Amino acid sequence: MKTGIIIVAAGSGERLGYGIPKAEVPLAGEPILAYALRGVIASGVADKICVAVPRSDKLLRELCQDSSITRPIDADVECPPIVAVDGGSTRSDSVRQGLSALGDDIDVVLVHDAARALAPPEVFQRVAHALAEGAQAVIPVRTMVDTVKVVEHAPADQVSIAQEVVTQTPDRTRLRIVQTPQGFTVEALARAHALAELFDDEQSAAVTDDAMLIEALGIPVYAVPGSDLSLKITTPTDLVLAEALLNAYGS
Ligand code: CTP
Ligand code: MG
Repeated sequence: MKTGIIIVAAGSGERLGYGIPKAEVPLAGEPILAYALRGVIASGVADKICVAVPRSDKLLRELCQDSSITRPIDADVECPPIVAVDGGSTRSDSVRQGLSALGDDIDVVLVHDAARALAPPEVFQRVAHALAEGAQAVIPVRTMVDTVKVVEHAPADQVSIAQEVVTQTPDRTRLRIVQTPQGFTVEALARAHALAELFDDEQSAAVTDDAMLIEALGIPVYAVPGSDLSLKITTPTDLVLAEALLNAYGS
């Protein structure tokens, strides 16, 4: 079974606010993408890696060929071929670009956010294992520590009290926080994205992960343990947290 990994790194990082693509932003002195690449390579599960980078970006393209990254410290792990492709205007577009660049000889694909730069190699291995055991789709998850509420807009005559009012408290024991890498058979992911390509802008904006497209096809999505290290670096606070995690646990 041949495994491809798509790293989506073509986002602009608006919420991080550095004015440069998020994957370029330094984390303890190195671009965020460097950490994501090292984690993927160290996992040893990839036969091919495809990185979706912002159109016309040079730095991230060069990073994909940088020998300090592609020469793994662990002599038992070999670095698979890495190709960089232009990403698209949405995350889903970037996944589709990556998928078409992986080629025909790939059986299963792991889709990973560069923004989850510290995702540990074991998580990639867990996802790959579930695929090898027959899953068509698998996601890494964490349990919820906070109670979650469903809210709606407060009625017009009550907005002086608050903007929102609680309508429901879902059973927390059944809720999961979803991370990447998410793994799929190529067939399932290609079917899901063929569908998503037809979405209008509003529908596209609602697609926050690949697994929800798979669910819409009625294909079972399995859940394996993720990691607290796999936080998605989104805001400046997340960057501080990621640096602290690096100091505490290493890359
Ligand atoms: N991504 C991508 N192509 C896009 C948009 C996002 O490859 N057109 C990638 C990002 O690079 C990131 C992952 O998808 O690794 C998750 O997206 P997000 O955290 O939202 O990153 P950005 O879109 O860069 O951030 P923002 O939404 O704040 O601009
Ligand atoms: Mg985004």
